[in-house]
Amino acid sequence: MTRIIYLNGQYIPETEGKVSVFDRGFLFSDSVYEVVSVLDRKLVDFEGHVQRLARSLSEIGIEGAPDAHAWLGICRELVSRNAFEEGMIYWQVTRGTPDDRDFVFPPTDMPPTVLAFTQSRTLVNNPVAERGLSVVTVPDLRWGRADIKTTQLLYASLMKNAAIGQGADDAWMERDGWITEGSAQNAHIINRDGVLITHPLNREILHGITRAAVLPLVVQRIEERPFSVSEAEQAAEAFVSSASGFVMPVVRINGYAIGDGKPGSATVQLRNAYIEWARRTAK
Ligand code: PDD
Repeated sequence: MTRIIYLNGQYIPETEGKVSVFDRGFLFSDSVYEVVSVLDRKLVDFEGHVQRLARSLSEIGIEGAPDAHAWLGICRELVSRNAFEEGMIYWQVTRGTPDDRDFVFPPTDMPPTVLAFTQSRTLVNNPVAERGLSVVTVPDLRWGRADIKTTQLLYASLMKNAAIGQGADDAWMERDGWITEGSAQNAHIINRDGVLITHPLNREILHGITRAAVLPLVVQRIEERPFSVSEAEQAAEAFVSSASGFVMPVVRINGYAIGDGKPGSATVQLRNAYIEWARRTAK
């Protein structure tokens, strides 16, 4: 079915969306994005995503994007025009379309390119949550501002595909032996003392909106500190969090079975608690 997408103020069929070859997002990855999940046709944690988008935009100095009220309207319109129950809405804002390629920014009054589209997916009854993920660790060679949600996703995409090439599902990235995060998810472990360990919020990781919602639901003790690759391999449980996967168990790291190689009970509880919270608070 042809989706209706939002592009620069208009709702149009996906086949009619056109962006200039000089768009800064296309030529320089000069753009930021968000992924917001939709449950029962409602937006999960809208405020968190809209605030993070505003921060990403301000960190790289893009002006003129829709405000929170406008984004809410765009999302609701897309949900109603696309008749989908569950999945995600992708938002992207680029620094706009000058009339030539130039490293120098265009004037700030140039309007940004603003795009949003829906992605219908099974999120709650995702079969991957039943079996859990297998991950391999790779060096984190991304730039030093992983906290800004830019569309410079080549490295993450290369690493995810390399992991799949090795028979795993995904990659966890590490700097000097310390896990930072997953290719497109925050990474967490529960050690054999029952302590949940998660990387602290700094420039090395994206400040996950799902992570922020999940941590208050955790009943275990939490330590916000980096954990090493070997700590991860020896963990009792492991999981990732993201808007597109919610809480997703990890059952194998670098070939080592985590716990008994099945989704851990604390992780399953946390996934259920998060889904319950998301449904209750979605707007
Ligand atoms: N990815 N870390 C990275 C590198 C990410 O790309 C993401 C999200 C997360 C989790 O953030 P959140 O909980 O706010 O979704 C962490 C999205 C889903 C994506 O790129 O599709």
